[in-house]
Amino acid sequence: MDLEDRFERTVAAEQRVEPRDWMPEGYRRTLIRQIAQHAHSEIIGMQPEGNWISRAPSLRRKAILLAKVQDEAGHGLYLYAATETLGADRGDLTEKLISGRQKYSSIFNYPTLSFADVGVIGWLVDGAAICNQVPLCRTSYGPYARAMIRICKEESFHQRQGYELLMTMMGGTDAQRAMVQESVDRWWWPSLMMFGPPDAESSNTEQSMKWRIKRNTNDELRQKFVDMTVPQAGKLGVALPDPELRWNPDRGHHDFGQPDWDEFWRVVGGNGPANEQRVAHRRKAHEDGEWVRAAAEAFSAKRAAAVEG
Ligand code: 3HC
Repeated sequence: MDLEDRFERTVAAEQRVEPRDWMPEGYRRTLIRQIAQHAHSEIIGMQPEGNWISRAPSLRRKAILLAKVQDEAGHGLYLYAATETLGADRGDLTEKLISGRQKYSSIFNYPTLSFADVGVIGWLVDGAAICNQVPLCRTSYGPYARAMIRICKEESFHQRQGYELLMTMMGGTDAQRAMVQESVDRWWWPSLMMFGPPDAESSNTEQSMKWRIKRNTNDELRQKFVDMTVPQAGKLGVALPDPELRWNPDRGHHDFGQPDWDEFWRVVGGNGPANEQRVAHRRKAHEDGEWVRAAAEAFSAKRAAAVEG
């Protein structure tokens, strides 16, 4: 059996492709692209909520938000580690991110204007992330699938803490309820965009599904998210800002309107409300960390020289 056959059989048998296995170059490139951009999303995703840590309304909320933002950093590190098993260099990926040659999720280019956004991001953004990431626990590449198992466990805490925060606010004053609804109105459509363009415009889905990197299409997961979220919105007592949203008994799913795909491609192209700020912040953090990297390299060179004696 030649190497390509073995690869195809491994994927078809729902087994895992491991770093030392032969793999098509396109499979490797697609994995590095997707996992790197996933990692970039986690790291950039720390900024919107990090903005509220020092302004959380109570010590409990501050502690929860600190834990969540710290989790996102860890998710980014697991995922960068997964790219390194494919021969990628973390420094090179960071350069690609800050120079705009690699992407991160569009959702993080929207500003967090009120503390209700912290709850809505937990409920909608992490809820969408769960819909998108749970299937990735069955992705064909071993290190990615294993990273996703731990990430998904922590994402469910992220989603629950957001929903609980909103439940609390919805049980509060009229002003707090209005703050939650205003936040839902701003985050609903960008959350639907997280799943990527419509399948008909998705350049990667067909091949990624064949390689079982992706296990569902963009539209399948978007539909799953809408169906999951509508009853939660009802329990919260918020309205989702989509006049076309309704249960379709014939389909057994909710019908819903289409996001503004021009806005989506504008944001993906770097022209969203907060793209410049997010990338500039990441660039400054990278530059400010240069001395740490230099010191670590000097230390490891010194230790290597001492060992060689
Ligand atoms: N934001 C930015 N770019 C996006 C995007 C989005 N929401 N959706 C799609 N794109 C890009 C794709 O990267 C691709 O560009 P590329 O070829 O240069 O990479 C192009 O638009 C066409 O999209 P495709 O559907 O063909 O691309 P994919 O097959 O890669 O599907 C995806 C896009 C669904 C995001 C897929 O890559 C994926 O499932 N990635 C893993 C999960 C992930 O990255 N989630 C991002 C959020 S992480 C997060 O939410 C953290 C949590 O803690 C909040």
